[in-house]
This record gives sequence, C-alpha cells and structure tokens, in this order.
Amino acid sequence: MTDEISELQAETDAALAAATDLRAWDAIRVGVLGKSGKLTGLLKELGRASPEERRERGAALNRLKDALTTAIEARRVAIETAAMEARLAGERMDVSLPPAVAPLGLIHPISRTMEEMAAIFGAMGFAIAEGPDVEDDWRNFGALNIPAHHSAREDMDTFYVPPLHEPGASAAERRRVLRTHTSPVQVRTMLGQEPPIRVIVPGRTYRADHDATHSPMFHQVEGLALDRGLTLGHLKGCLIDFLRAFFGISNLPVRFRSSYFPFTEPSMEVDIGWNRRTGELGGGGDWLEILGSGMVHAKVLANCGIDPREWQGFAFGMGIERVTMLKHGIADLRPFYESDIRWLRHYGFNPLAPAMLHEGLER
Ligand code: PHE
Repeated sequence: MTDEISELQAETDAALAAATDLRAWDAIRVGVLGKSGKLTGLLKELGRASPEERRERGAALNRLKDALTTAIEARRVAIETAAMEARLAGERMDVSLPPAVAPLGLIHPISRTMEEMAAIFGAMGFAIAEGPDVEDDWRNFGALNIPAHHSAREDMDTFYVPPLHEPGASAAERRRVLRTHTSPVQVRTMLGQEPPIRVIVPGRTYRADHDATHSPMFHQVEGLALDRGLTLGHLKGCLIDFLRAFFGISNLPVRFRSSYFPFTEPSMEVDIGWNRRTGELGGGGDWLEILGSGMVHAKVLANCGIDPREWQGFAFGMGIERVTMLKHGIADLRPFYESDIRWLRHYGFNPLAPAMLHEGLER
C-alpha cells in the first residue's frame, strides 16, 4: 500500500518534470486528480478498508494529495514562466537602434543638374518656362530666323512628325517636329508675356543622331533675358557667374569666342578652362566648349511681336548631359538612359538633400 503511494508520487514527479507545455501538464493533472485519476481511485478504495487501516492510510493519502496538488501547481507556474521568458527573448528589441529606413530612391544626375541650374539662375531672378516636345516648324525654326532652306537646318537631324490638320494654322505651324533644341520656348515665352523677361528652359530635345557621344533624345537648358538696355556685358556676367557657381570653381577661366547662330547677333560660343591631359576643370591652359549664346536677333524679337528698338537681351543654350558628365567625371553618355541600377546608385543624389544655393553647391 505505501508502495502505491510512493510509486504515484515518483511517477507524477517524473511526468511533471518531463512536461514542457500546458497541454502535457493538463494531461498529468487529470490523470492524477481527475474524476478517474489515479489518486481519486486510491481514495475511493479507502472506503473498503478497515477503520484503523482507513485512519492511517487516509492520512497518508491526504498528505500525498497535498504534495501532488502543490507539485502540479508549481509545475504550471514554471511552464508559464518559461514560455513568457522565451517569448520575451524572441521579441527583444533594442530601442537605441536607429529606425529602419525604407529605401528612398535617388535623384537622377540629369534631374539634379536641372535642379542646380534652377537654384543658380533662380537666385539671379530667372523663372522656369516649359514648352512641348512636339513643336511646330515655325517655332522650332522659322521664328528663330532659320528659314525653310537655310543651311542651319542641315546641322539639326530632325525627327519629323505627321502634320496637324488644324484649319487656322499656317503651313509652317502645321508641320511638326520633335524639337531639336529648347530655343522654340524663347518664341513661346515672348509671344506669351510682355518684357522684361527672365526665364530658363530645361527640357528634352531630339536629333536623329546616335553614337557613343550622341543620343537621339537628350536635354538642354535655354536661357532668355530681355529688358531695356541689356548688353553683351550682362550676358558675359551672367554666364561667368553661372559657370563658376555650377562647377564650384570660383576662378574658373571662361572664354567668349565669336560664332554664328541664326537667332542671335552677335553670337558667341563659351569655353571653360581645363587640362586636356588630366581632364581637370579650371587651369591647365586648354579650352572646352560648353555652350552657345548671343544677343537675341532683332528679327527674332520682331517675329515675336517685340520692338527691338525698345527691348534687347541675350539668350543661351547648353547640353545638360555634357555639363553633368564634366562636373561628375562621367565618361560615357549611354548609361544616362539605360536604367542600370548600379550606375544610378553610384551617380544618383540623395532626394532629401536637394540643390539649394544657400548651402553652396558642392563641387
Ligand atoms: N539652340 C542652340 C543649339 O541648340 C543653342 C543656343 C541657344 C545658342 C540660344 C544661342 C542662343 O545649339
């Protein structure tokens, strides 16, 4: 009889020690203390024992019941505590770590250059103007003093677009092209607003040209300033300041070389100093052509309804890819449009640090 008691004690202790979850624990509890549990069975048998046997054995069974009840309860607490500790360990977080930042994407170098140009020219009082990529022949060529059979058209390998069938339009307005430069937006601006005018025009341009250094689609920025009494001196001051700010070289040599554009008179090509051998901008004794410029041709002003005796001004245009490549040491034009994520990660700009002149544009 005593054997049964110590056996049940030992058996229950061993089973409890082996139980690691509440389901196993509950099976033990029911198996011992439940209606048909082992201890309940022993207590029932007690009824059939003799009175003196019952007293002695009853006391022993009651002690066993107390002991098992305590052990079973203690095991429940232990299992629950272990489960909670495991959960806490699994969910532990270090609140001192910086938050996980979702990938933001980067600003494409072309967009970045446009932003920088907007910041620099914006500080000089220029607003941004835009025009359509599909332009009419008159605004792209005619109004800019490039007549139909002018040889300057040969320089621009134009993409032609099916003509518009618009009743009121002239023949030249119905003929349409993908604009070969941003200069037609000079025309649109002069037709659309009264002088004084100060605008820059960043945008896409197109020429049927494709090799290592030419893309059929590329970007330009145009500039137009019209006022009373603007001179070549204003043009030079404006572009020297721009180039030095953009390239971040305060003493960058700038050279104006006479040239020809049908829509400016006089016209000048603008060069900056560099070292041809090392590719470094600044000193070095060599010159690199950067942009075209000139005083707006009187015929162009007249074509746009502006009296050239009252208003004068200058215009300029430059390739955005070209100055971006020079500024950042990018050797090849083609990756600009290839969407290779490795190139974009390398040359892209932080969108949270936009170009702002008050911080100074970095070199
Ligand atoms: N439109 C010219 C080009 O594409 C650049 C230019 C613009 C030159 C304005 C002078 C004035 O080459």
